Amino acid sequence: MIFITAMNTQDKVEFPQIMSQPISLLQIDDIEDHQTQEFQLDAQALFAVKKDGQLYLYENTCPHLQITLNFTPNQFLDQEGYFIMCANHGALFEIETGLCISGPCLGKSLTRIPFEIQNGQLQIKVN
Ligand code: FES
Repeated sequence: MIFITAMNTQDKVEFPQIMSQPISLLQIDDIEDHQTQEFQLDAQALFAVKKDGQLYLYENTCPHLQITLNFTPNQFLDQEGYFIMCANHGALFEIETGLCISGPCLGKSLTRIPFEIQNGQLQIKVN
């Protein structure tokens, strides 16, 4: 079984583990521009961010020290909402690419997670 937790709920949902089974993480309309939503899939931490109507999905791991980016649930952006920001040492990442443009991991990137949009839902495939 795979356990998925959306960080704004305390509910854990169990899904049967089937090879490459798509799993819906969220309704794409449930997240606004310049907002983020984090998820926990077993041991893997992810977050989604929306900018200009486009969704991006990343692993919640900073390339500087390989630790999670945020201190506060679902908070991944700088004050203006223009960049993903690591709360640990202030690294800034482009939302569209995950590239670090300022901070101790300059030139490194967040890990993008491939996803599909099906019936208005962001879905990933798990093995
Ligand atoms: S751990 Fe992210 S900038 Fe240091």
